[in-house]
Amino acid sequence: GNKLGSKKERTLAMIKPDAVNKMGDILQMINDANLILTKAKMTKLTWKQAADFYTEHQTKSFFNNLVQFMTSGPVVAMELMGDEAVSVWRRILGPTDSGVARKEAPPSLRAQFGTDGTRNAGHGSDSLASAARELEFFFPSTAGHGPANTANCTDC
Ligand code: PPS
Repeated sequence: GNKLGSKKERTLAMIKPDAVNKMGDILQMINDANLILTKAKMTKLTWKQAADFYTEHQTKSFFNNLVQFMTSGPVVAMELMGDEAVSVWRRILGPTDSGVARKEAPPSLRAQFGTDGTRNAGHGSDSLASAARELEFFFPSTAGHGPANTANCTDC
């Protein structure tokens, strides 16, 4: 059940191709933040899969660059669960651009493991609605097992 006053959530976290070999350090950060790893999958995205995942950015100038990077090697997709998991994981990630992230203390995941605005080590859903869509993308509930991918899990 839920602790009174807590907002237990699920979110989709992804380790990008440039940080897959830092998975140990990243799991440590997840543990330290009291988030629980409930699902994980390592996969190499096709161009179409990456373009679908980032469909909201398809008109942006960086779209091709983003899809190119995201298909350059395997990624690790994870479902994380915990109090305010969506915003807690985004705080762990730090600013989108790793160069900007390195100007902040304490050093975030992107500050430590990313390089710049393209190679930035990790992704996190930006809202409960995105989390539901992105969890369904990597862990489809229609595949048969477990509950539906609602991100706002008052009872999980
Ligand atoms: S926006 O326009 O504010 O929505 O964009 P932003 O939130 O900054 O970034 C959205 C995702 O696009 C990635 N991005 C890039 N990838 C490659 N090259 C460049 N130049 C670039 N700029 C932004 C950025 O890392 C975000 O990816 P995710 O996986 O969502 O963090």
